[in-house]
Amino acid sequence: MSKFDPEALRAAAESHRQKTAMGSSATDQLAPNGSQVVEAERNQSRPVDLRTRYMGLWLRNPVVASAGPLSQTVDGIKSLAAGGVGAVVMYSLFEEQIRHEAARETALAEQGTESFAEALSYFPTAPSNDSGLTRTYLELIEKAAPVIDVPLIASLNGSTTGEWTQNARRMQDAGAAAIELNVYYVPGDITTAAREVEQRYLDILDDVKSRVGVPVAMKLSPYLSSFGKMAQALDAAGADGLVLFNRYLQPDIDLDQMAVLPGFGLSTQEEAKLPRSWISALYGRVNASLAATTGVETVEDVVKYLLAGADVVMTTAALVRHGSDYAGQLVDGVQSWLSRRQLDLSRARGLLAVPSNADATQYARSGYISGLERAKKIYAR
Ligand SMILES: Cc1cc2nc3c(=O)[nH]c(=O)nc-3n(C[C@H](O)[C@H](O)[C@H](O)COP(=O)(O)O)c2cc1C
Repeated sequence: MSKFDPEALRAAAESHRQKTAMGSSATDQLAPNGSQVVEAERNQSRPVDLRTRYMGLWLRNPVVASAGPLSQTVDGIKSLAAGGVGAVVMYSLFEEQIRHEAARETALAEQGTESFAEALSYFPTAPSNDSGLTRTYLELIEKAAPVIDVPLIASLNGSTTGEWTQNARRMQDAGAAAIELNVYYVPGDITTAAREVEQRYLDILDDVKSRVGVPVAMKLSPYLSSFGKMAQALDAAGADGLVLFNRYLQPDIDLDQMAVLPGFGLSTQEEAKLPRSWISALYGRVNASLAATTGVETVEDVVKYLLAGADVVMTTAALVRHGSDYAGQLVDGVQSWLSRRQLDLSRARGLLAVPSNADATQYARSGYISGLERAKKIYAR
């Protein structure tokens, strides 16, 4: 086991920043009271190129509308694009909806047989009318993709392999620039081994990748026993992007009704810390693009994700709270922040990631111990 040496880690981080960022002045420019910061802030007007490469696609900036309720109509998608985002990820088409429709079609073809009611009962009722959800989704891509000036990314959401994944191909053919694959899988069977869970992610990715030529991003759960290894395995299996993280909506208990209620609420800024830490750990260690999702409210939240190493920063909560135009404010804010510090986006990205020459495990442990020490001083009586 290597020796715990926080000083060495700090020195490694420092040296990494100096090497990878901008030569000897990099750390000075980040220093809160450094004279170069003051100088840079005086010289604010330099335009910064925000163009970003995400999964091989060129985006005009790194702020992306994540899958959510604002992309359910052509007008909604147009507003998101006009609001200033670099790309739009559409709401998800769910495996259950697709299977439900397929079962219905089969049953209609076999009308009069017993199998109809039985087949439908395997799947939860689709949230809206249960025929034509797939068709509606594909038509939406067909209509929206050509009338916006940013890539439209379709989203498939499921937890098993199977024929339903062929819809990735239909999405591509309809005009989607990429597919985001949300594997929302909670292993409710407590005998499920970690390896089985991980294999499921790989199998679903394989299924989708074999059907499309456009890039595929995996939207992932943080609840995997060795997340870094899993990210690397998905990267090696051809994931073009990793979206960190799926936000799990754990149910709540209502004491008045004595009932379990579905959990729901928009994210808080505090929740960004988990995906940010993992993005910072993966930066430079996987080929796949890194997308951050969860906890963006302000310009600073976007900047922190970029400094951690995110290629793009996604938000739904901020756009739901403030409207689609808010993306433009976030983009302008990032532009000014970088300009004030005379930083290019490419130099800022990953500037505060776990340094490539640091022992990442010790780095995380060092942060944990320092945090605890600080808290102990604050709360000591
Ligand atoms: C109302 C609502 C609907 C959402 N629908 C989807 C969806 O269809 N598919 C998906 O992958 N994520 C969906 N999400 C999750 C978001 O894409 C995002 O990952 C999550 O909200 C965390 O980001 P945020 O903090 O910026 O909201 C939804 C979120 C909200 C708030």
